Amino acid sequence: MTGPDLKAGIASKDLPDGGTLVGHVDGEAVLLVRRGRDVFAIGAACTHYGGPLGEGLVVGDTIHCPWHHACFDLRTGEPIRAPALLPEPVYDVEVGDRIRVKGKGVAAGFSPPGGLKAVPTRIAIVGAGAAGNAAADMLRRRGFTGSIAMFGPEDPVDRPNLSKEYLAGSAPEEWLPLPIADGIDFVHRRVTKLDAPTKTLTLDDGSTRSFDAILIATGADPIRLPIPGSDQPHVHYLRTSANSRSIIAAAQAGKSAVIVGAGFIGLEVAASLRARNVDVSVVAPEDIPLARIMGDDVGRFVQRLHESHGVRFFLGTGVKSIDRDAVVTANGDRLTSNFVVIGAGVRPNTQLASKRARQASTLPGMSRDFPIALPVTRFASSIGSSPSSRGKQRPET
Ligand SMILES: Cc1cc2nc3c(=O)[nH]c(=O)nc-3n(C[C@H](O)[C@H](O)[C@H](O)COP(=O)(O)OP(=O)(O)OC[C@H]3O[C@@H](n4cnc5c(N)ncnc54)[C@H](O)[C@@H]3O)c2cc1C
Ligand code: FES
Repeated sequence: MTGPDLKAGIASKDLPDGGTLVGHVDGEAVLLVRRGRDVFAIGAACTHYGGPLGEGLVVGDTIHCPWHHACFDLRTGEPIRAPALLPEPVYDVEVGDRIRVKGKGVAAGFSPPGGLKAVPTRIAIVGAGAAGNAAADMLRRRGFTGSIAMFGPEDPVDRPNLSKEYLAGSAPEEWLPLPIADGIDFVHRRVTKLDAPTKTLTLDDGSTRSFDAILIATGADPIRLPIPGSDQPHVHYLRTSANSRSIIAAAQAGKSAVIVGAGFIGLEVAASLRARNVDVSVVAPEDIPLARIMGDDVGRFVQRLHESHGVRFFLGTGVKSIDRDAVVTANGDRLTSNFVVIGAGVRPNTQLASKRARQASTLPGMSRDFPIALPVTRFASSIGSSPSSRGKQRPET
């Protein structure tokens, strides 16, 4: 354990206003934060992946994790921004000449904003990704007591991990599942039809479910490129945990890979496969990776960083065809590969929210009619848009 024993306490002057200090209480790491006359004590390891909150940013009465920017309320320990879903423990603090942490306190928790009157009794959430699952969780934490049914063909998983630590072999399988809140009826089915006027969903086994209010959180799917040969089994896309496992199996069986696309997914897959000692070539039409999003300088820096780890780039060219043992670029290069991963962006799954459904006045769009602010974060919604300082923006997909 690092830092002082906070039960024994520290001199008050050792924690100036705005200061933070990590110590321990009963064998657990605890972070002290002073804001004016208040001193908060909260668990020091982020409940997402254990990020060091002591190195995080204090903003008002919140702390932001330095790793993936989850945000916790210092008073209650509640996670108020994705990707963390679980609260931090909070501790009672005695402040005098010395600051002493007495032990675990009782978190205040959320109080339902404005009272939950006249709310729907049955909420359907279509899609069990980060957005759907976080919405279900937040509804419960804000005191919604009606039924919540969440529909989806796959369990909620921490998708960002699929191209990073998990794919690289440094994160265990247990890191993938996202916890589902208590009292959620998770229906392991795809929704095939939404009938807005009758408020009915049809599932892929033919059964139907009724709802009062609905949230469509169906995310996005990878864009499939019409390249000759791209329908072969050694050509992969990456969206689900099954996709990630298939790529790991290919990396264990083969020695060389071609990544088509130099966006975030392509570059993350390239780095993760290098960590598995796979020879990696990246083919993309742009001249500088990520330049469109991050500018030329950052793009060149990222490219050089990948090259220093052995990634080869073939930029300014497309892919003409994919053979069993090679990828042929439009420039005529023939790149030997045991397997191929295509990362060419995503297309939002908007089929259910057809024009007719969107126009139906009887469809209670939850963000419009439901008296609870839903947690739409940049992580959490591939198919919606959220307010930002630059107007309405579609979050990263
Ligand atoms: C490999 C990878 C790495 C990423 N890394 C990052 C990152 O580092 N940082 C970041 O900010 N973002 C990252 N993203 C993007 C991030 O994962 C998405 O923005 C996020 O997953 C969007 O959440 P969502 O719930 O809107 O959609 P999704 O996660 O796509 O979830 C939608 C769910 O709806 C289900 N669904 C679709 N149609 C139906 C239907 N008809 N019936 C029932 N269910 C349906 C789908 O099966 C899916 O489970 C990454 C994405 C991937 C694939
Ligand atoms: S470890 Fe804190 S947000 Fe991921």
